Amino acid sequence: MITLIKNIQELLQVREISIAKVSGSEMAILPSLKNAFLILKDDLIENFGSMENLPEINADKIIDATGKVVLPTWCDSHTHIVYAGNREQEFVDRINGFTYEEIANRGGGILNSAKKLNETSEDEIYEQSKHRLEEVMHLGTGAVEIKSGYGLTIEGELKMLRVIKKLAENYPISIKATFLGAHAFPTHYKENKAGYIDEIITKMLPEIAQNKLADYIDVFCETGYFSVAETEKIMQAGIDFGLKPKIHVNQFNSIGGIQAGIKFNALSVDHLEIMNPEDIEALKNTETMPVALPSCSYFLSIPYTPAREMIKAGLPIALATDFNPGSTPSGNMNFVVATACIKMKMTPEEAINAATINGAYAMGLSETHGSITKGKKANLILTKPISSYYQIPYAFGSNLIESVFLEGKILE
Ligand code: NIG
Ligand code: FE
Repeated sequence: MITLIKNIQELLQVREISIAKVSGSEMAILPSLKNAFLILKDDLIENFGSMENLPEINADKIIDATGKVVLPTWCDSHTHIVYAGNREQEFVDRINGFTYEEIANRGGGILNSAKKLNETSEDEIYEQSKHRLEEVMHLGTGAVEIKSGYGLTIEGELKMLRVIKKLAENYPISIKATFLGAHAFPTHYKENKAGYIDEIITKMLPEIAQNKLADYIDVFCETGYFSVAETEKIMQAGIDFGLKPKIHVNQFNSIGGIQAGIKFNALSVDHLEIMNPEDIEALKNTETMPVALPSCSYFLSIPYTPAREMIKAGLPIALATDFNPGSTPSGNMNFVVATACIKMKMTPEEAINAATINGAYAMGLSETHGSITKGKKANLILTKPISSYYQIPYAFGSNLIESVFLEGKILE
């Protein structure tokens, strides 16, 4: 099946050669082609170029993209979209003056979601989660990482990971699974933290590894959750079972989680709302991708990741949603890109790089996703007619997407 998209006003993120990531000042450069064509063959990108160089081809389908922009689908490298119910009461409680921390301390927060998750059947969790997945696909996401972490029991964590696996089997979107058993201490282990960590390491991890249910290991490294020493112990155990770390750090406090992540060669360190100069320094010249989650900052009214300082220091940044019931009940990457521009002062070019090529890196998908490169997945966003790609962050409340292509097919 050959599809030709012709007369594209601007084709974004074109890379002749597949690159892993863009860092520092390179982030300001978004390579693009004006008046371009793009040819898809089955599920892959076959060719692209300027309209004047359009080769003769026998296309099965021709799409005229006059006035429209085409870019690779968003790569959302940090979500928790598998969950049960919602936490809208906590949302109202926060409006009424309670903090996220106060709500968590009285048994709400992650423990509230864990209770709901453990009371809900696997089929029901799948049903609820698939609607969220379908929604984000229509919003232009073509690859997503999904974490466990609302089970906090062996049965609950396995249930979540099986749901993630089933979603990956049933939908044409690339999904990476992350085991986040270390998301919070369950109530009955409150006085026996070592006991829960032992359960993660000796019971959960072997079962997950044996059934190949996860690609990555995550820990919520934060005051009141998992200490740096505990995080290191869990990362090491994950690595021993073949899972690379991707960890939650510096959301509310800078306690050394970034340095721990780097020490264990984490693929990414995520959140980074609270960054001190040593944290930025530590990330220089490492393979670890810093991931910012601006919708979380927006929803919780907490600081935004200091993107300008980080880019100035030569670091890369990836953007992701953090879609979850407590801190970010939204999986809209278009909003993430807009918020990064509006609140973090990233330029549209930097934000689009962060949400595509760098997001792909943060999921280990650089070779197949994140740019318009021959041989990569034919995962595309085709916009409605727009004046330029600046509209994507500028018109932040509008849906500018006309269609989404996943693996070469238009999403119905
Ligand atoms: O990434 N910070 C830790 N975990 C999630 C929120 C969890 C929740 O409130 O349910 C996050 O923000
Ligand atoms: Fe998260």
